[in-house]
Amino acid sequence: MRPLQERVPISEPDVEARAPGADPLRLLQLSDPHLLREGQGRYRGRTPFAQLRHGLEQAMAQLSAPPDLLLISGDLCQDESWGGYVQLRNLLTASGLPLALLPGNHDHPVLLQAVLGRHAALAPTALRLGPWRLLLLSSHRCGDGGGWLGAGQRTWLRQCLHHDLSPTLVAVHHPPLPIGDPGFDAIGLRDGPELAAILQETSSAAMLLCGHVHQHWQGLLGAEPGLPVLACPSTLCAFEAVQPCPLGRGQDPGGRLLELHPDGRWSQRLLRWSPWLEPAADVSET
Ligand SMILES: [Fe+2]
Repeated sequence: MRPLQERVPISEPDVEARAPGADPLRLLQLSDPHLLREGQGRYRGRTPFAQLRHGLEQAMAQLSAPPDLLLISGDLCQDESWGGYVQLRNLLTASGLPLALLPGNHDHPVLLQAVLGRHAALAPTALRLGPWRLLLLSSHRCGDGGGWLGAGQRTWLRQCLHHDLSPTLVAVHHPPLPIGDPGFDAIGLRDGPELAAILQETSSAAMLLCGHVHQHWQGLLGAEPGLPVLACPSTLCAFEAVQPCPLGRGQDPGGRLLELHPDGRWSQRLLRWSPWLEPAADVSET
């Protein structure tokens, strides 16, 4: 059986975000919620579901209007459980937002598809956001903390880029280049150099969004001038940051707002909020 990431769509899906007006389209990125089967369960001393719900509320409160798309860039479900995806589905469908989801290394793509496939665009796929195209890549590989696109997905990506020169946002869970943290650089996107080469064959890719590293990070991929790469903080917890947080809040949860202009220009804004205040831990908690 071919690995899941080799199964790529042969046509664009039906999922399409709201038609654009003159204003830029707005994409809200959240990342790495690490949900658990039990909604009250804790991971890294916090309650992932409550932190995601709180993070979505806090991010929305910082926006002047609902975004045109909510992207969550992987590590959706830490224990890869059906129950974790059901909680994610219930929370996200209640938001009423168009949804796009990437699997991370802490995910089960088959369960993700089964529970959320009717409600969200799931990587690997392509979708339209007005004049923009989003290419959502799956870097999940069973049994590996690192990421892998595979030959089939890379071929599909190359065909997409050569077939249509629309301004393109690429999203993948694993950063495609080292960020300067030895721990994360050992579990990055293993075929990142191949991805960089493909993205430089045409000029349509405008930027790449990723998660995985639980911190704000920005860099350039490939030969000069390089493709901007932006890593998103986690809604659950922050890891020690390689780069200073522009908001001076590197230990807080966060997200990112992307504004995509009709002429292909784009801008972004880092969002931060204080973590949800956890109740005192039950002494019986394990
Ligand atoms: Fe990850």
